[in-house]
Amino acid sequence: MKFFIDTANLADIQEAADLGVLDGVTTNPSLMAKEGIAGQDRILKHYVDICNLVDGPISAEVISTDYENIIREGEALAALHANIIVKVPMIKDGIKAIKYFTQKGIRTNCTLVFSAGQALLAAKAGATYVSPFVGRLDDISTDGMALIAQIRTIYNNYGFQTQILAASVRHPMHIIQCAEIGADVMTGPLSAILALLNHPLTDSGLAKFLSDYKKVNA
Ligand code: E4P
Repeated sequence: MKFFIDTANLADIQEAADLGVLDGVTTNPSLMAKEGIAGQDRILKHYVDICNLVDGPISAEVISTDYENIIREGEALAALHANIIVKVPMIKDGIKAIKYFTQKGIRTNCTLVFSAGQALLAAKAGATYVSPFVGRLDDISTDGMALIAQIRTIYNNYGFQTQILAASVRHPMHIIQCAEIGADVMTGPLSAILALLNHPLTDSGLAKFLSDYKKVNA
């Protein structure tokens, strides 16, 4: 399973990249706003900065909701860097645009997916990635991970090449469950990735090894 980090924070991206396990980055307009990245020129430059930190797929989201402008925006984003993935919302014009981008060889990430039907449409349009939002479903007392499993079954049934990018991952158990189900990619914050490191028996075991070493190597 590939690990993407879901942030526009360059320090977090660098820290995850330094760990050596980072495969890509996802962003969205809220994450860009959180970092205070505003204005078209700054936004585009920030995507290039991210591309220069991580050599992997970098999702950059369009903010248009009509076909012509999604195409215009998406083509400009794709022209920024070979690693840019155009992130398109799951709406009618978004699906039409994904079909267009697919035919043009531009890679896409269909975002804001909350149902199996939406994921089926994204795959039929040829999306490179589909992003079901696990955490946001959990937030409304719906089993987000069950959706990942449902999409996995459907895609396997027909050999769809669209990669399942489990998004809105919030904690380490989400990551483990995604791996058990067979999501192709998960994207989450740095905290969820780093939390995978932790186990109290690792901490106590290491402390004991080091103190035993010191006892005879003083
Ligand atoms: C997907 O790519 C989104 O950027 C993201 O995963 C949303 O996560 P959130 O629900 O924690 O905001």
